[in-house]
Amino acid sequence: MNKFFSKIRTSREQVNILFCYFYNKLLYLINYRHYFLLQSKSYFKFEQNLFMKSSELLKVAKTYGAPLYVYDATKITSQYERLTNAFKGVESLRLNYACKALSNIAVLRLMHSLGSGLDTVSIQEVKLGLLAGFKPESIIYTPNGVSLEEIEEAATLGVQINIDNLSVLEQFGSKHPDIPVCIRINPHVMAGGNSNISVGHIDSKFGISIHQIPHLLRIVDLTNMNINGIHMHTGSDILDIDVFLYASEILFETAKNFKNLDFIDFGSGFKVPYKSGDIETNVEELGKKLTARFNQFCSEYGRQLTLAFEPGKFLVSEAGYFLAKVNVVKQTTSTIFASVDSGFNHLIRPMLYGSNHEIVNISNPDGRERYYSVVGYICETDTFGSNRRINEIAEGDILAFKNAGAYCFTMASNYNSRYRPAEVLYYQGKAHLIRERETFDDILKNQVDIADVFEAKVEKVVVK
Ligand SMILES: Cc1ncc(COP(=O)(O)O)c(C=O)c1O
Repeated sequence: MNKFFSKIRTSREQVNILFCYFYNKLLYLINYRHYFLLQSKSYFKFEQNLFMKSSELLKVAKTYGAPLYVYDATKITSQYERLTNAFKGVESLRLNYACKALSNIAVLRLMHSLGSGLDTVSIQEVKLGLLAGFKPESIIYTPNGVSLEEIEEAATLGVQINIDNLSVLEQFGSKHPDIPVCIRINPHVMAGGNSNISVGHIDSKFGISIHQIPHLLRIVDLTNMNINGIHMHTGSDILDIDVFLYASEILFETAKNFKNLDFIDFGSGFKVPYKSGDIETNVEELGKKLTARFNQFCSEYGRQLTLAFEPGKFLVSEAGYFLAKVNVVKQTTSTIFASVDSGFNHLIRPMLYGSNHEIVNISNPDGRERYYSVVGYICETDTFGSNRRINEIAEGDILAFKNAGAYCFTMASNYNSRYRPAEVLYYQGKAHLIRERETFDDILKNQVDIADVFEAKVEKVVVK
């Protein structure tokens, strides 16, 4: 630039040239303002909505390959702390992580390190919890429709038993009157994001109906069993805190029938945001209102009880990302499909519940936005999202599916004989592999090959 200016004689000429230079730059910016605005806005929006940076996610995908689940321990921790803070006015609070949401043992160990208890629904989850270091007394076992034998096995392991039907309650109470039992009440409240996850209504198979309380009390009396907890869970994705508060009143009313309670468990169902601008349960407001009511109930009851919750989605949903590589970009007459190296065998929620997982292109976060339908490779309709605005996709790009922490890997299968993905926990700035990707051996592992039976038949056919 200096050399250039030295060739120009007058300062007037220099000013003219500088003016033209900046004027041209300004025109360029004005002409391309939409482009720049869109780019910067989408980039900002993108980075803002990811708890982990796209560059970090991409690095993890490069190291461990795709498809891959990645969980951000920082987000799990902050959600745990947020819920704990919301109920800081309660003298005794227990959060029992509902591990059906995400049951990798590393995640269970993380929850344990945070001070969480564990909510389990199967004997296998109980055993995983014990292996992860949870004490039996900090595990609650809330099965539905399982055999008396399984419940007895859990009781032998020393965990808190929660029974949700009168038939098993009577059998268990008659055989083991000394083992304290929690009872799951069905308050007949219609709550939850959709019919599959609404479990507290009158037609639900869950819990003991509030209309059966007289029968329940007779069983307790006759067996002389000890009821130490009352529990409810009315559904998932509950936005309205009045639903929680209304159902809680039913629980308080029921609790008055039992003199030896240690805790009241209000279940879970907090709604988390799924896309930008999405609404969520206001846990802070719920915390204030329920804390006041709970403390009032305890003073009326004459004893300080523990207030328990068993959050799943709230703790892990937003912490999870599912990363999948784009195999094919296919333009049809009506749509541009981006086909990824995955399907509902890995992430079934969109097809099962119609759930909306935001999809972002972490390989090209600055690219211009276009509309895509993102689909999987399964041999039937397998749509992750239709008409999604995503930064321009090229074959080989990595897409991140958000809210993939809860009910994603745990619902994965080997459908189409595909391998289940690997899992990574991102903890204190470092990626830890917490599950290996499956291999062909895993597909065959428990199969019993009866080749000899068919070989004999084939030989016969050949002879003929
Ligand atoms: C008994 C029970 N507790 C807790 C949960 C966790 O619910 P969420 O993932 O909505 O927090 C569930 C979910 O199905 C449940 O059935």
